[in-house]
Amino acid sequence: MLVLAPGRITSLYVHVPFCARKCSYCAFYSESSSGELINRYVAALIRELESVSADLQPSTIFFGGGTPSLLNLRQWEQILSAMDRLHLLGAAEWTVECNPATVSLDKAKLLRAYGVNRISMGVQSLHEPLLDRLGRIHSREMVFKSFDILRQAGFDNVNLDLMFAIPGQTLDIWRQTLVQALAMGSEHLSSYEVIYEEDTALFAQLQAGEIDLDEDLACAMYEELVAKTQDAGFQHYEIANFARGESTDSEASELSVPGRACRHNVNYWRGGSFYGLGPSATSYVRGVRNRNWSNTQLYCEQIERGNRPVESTEELAPLARAGETAAFGLRMVAGWPFEQFQRTTGHDLRQEWAGEMEKLSEQGLGMIAPDRFQLTSQGLRFADTAAELFLR
Ligand SMILES: C[S@@+](CC[C@H](N)C(=O)[O-])C[C@H]1O[C@@H](n2cnc3c(N)ncnc32)[C@H](O)[C@@H]1O
Ligand code: SF4
Repeated sequence: MLVLAPGRITSLYVHVPFCARKCSYCAFYSESSSGELINRYVAALIRELESVSADLQPSTIFFGGGTPSLLNLRQWEQILSAMDRLHLLGAAEWTVECNPATVSLDKAKLLRAYGVNRISMGVQSLHEPLLDRLGRIHSREMVFKSFDILRQAGFDNVNLDLMFAIPGQTLDIWRQTLVQALAMGSEHLSSYEVIYEEDTALFAQLQAGEIDLDEDLACAMYEELVAKTQDAGFQHYEIANFARGESTDSEASELSVPGRACRHNVNYWRGGSFYGLGPSATSYVRGVRNRNWSNTQLYCEQIERGNRPVESTEELAPLARAGETAAFGLRMVAGWPFEQFQRTTGHDLRQEWAGEMEKLSEQGLGMIAPDRFQLTSQGLRFADTAAELFLR
């Protein structure tokens, strides 16, 4: 039995597929583009919003990319006023991703005025040579300046993204970036180890033997991350995510996450439904997963012709879906409370996955508590491998 979301869908993701320049490591669907295509995208996105608005009552919204902050004031005004007309404003948490090079006070104030209340800023590093190596378009100074602009515009919930195990990054350089980023006083920090994604410049350098991987160094950097964020008062709530704040509201305590955890992502990790709009975005609505075309021209053409811009549709069998939900949720430090998992998926972890949980516990990667199963700190480091065991 699959438990389906009653009522309207409460989570909305919008993909903005444009970047000023492609970073050397990034495989998210985005391209540098002309103003004309961006205008065409904005019109198509508004039509896609119109097509799903009757089934949406967003409590979390996330505009990601690509670089949403690349859209100009007029393009943002068009999207925001359409959302107003469609009764899509008023989400409890509304995040927009920004690149430090594309933040302006006017734009930040406009977003804030329409109800955007969280900004996620891609920092990656505060070491100038590494920013160059990664193909970032901003300097370290721009990071500090943009952060101040966001505060000035009234944003009191800001995430910073950092990356570690970057080729050429020493433990000392990483430590300095971490200390300086934490000193900025953001409410949230995300930090991923570099992933060598196919079809990226960094992957090609790895294939060409130009990069030496150092697993021990990466482990030491992760340990530093966990220790330093804890010292700074952050709670580690997902492999790569740390946030401040007491879990004062009932939702945060039920989910065992800090007050400033990203609720949009928590819904995703907990197997909730969401609409994903824009090129390459995925929706998961009432057990059905749709993926939009990863091609902005094609996306626009389909919508202009009155078609849905969907490339593929998949409806997983309930047990397979529950397995995926188990795997996603184990990324969270709190693991899966058995009762909550059963409520979400209709399956009992203790029946379907008893062997897998036992095996992970014997290996020191998991822990079976009376009310839940969770990964240990060692298990979180190898979460992808651990989670694979749950797929059916
Ligand atoms: C869509 S980007 C963030 C917003 C904006 N585009 C920017 O880069 O400033 C999402 C985040 O994913 C992380 N990321 C992207 N590709 C990655 C990779 N190959 N390995 C590790 N982290 C990656 C980066 O930290 C990045 O900030
Ligand atoms: S990391 Fe951000 S700015 Fe860089 S290419 Fe990816 S989406 Fe664009």
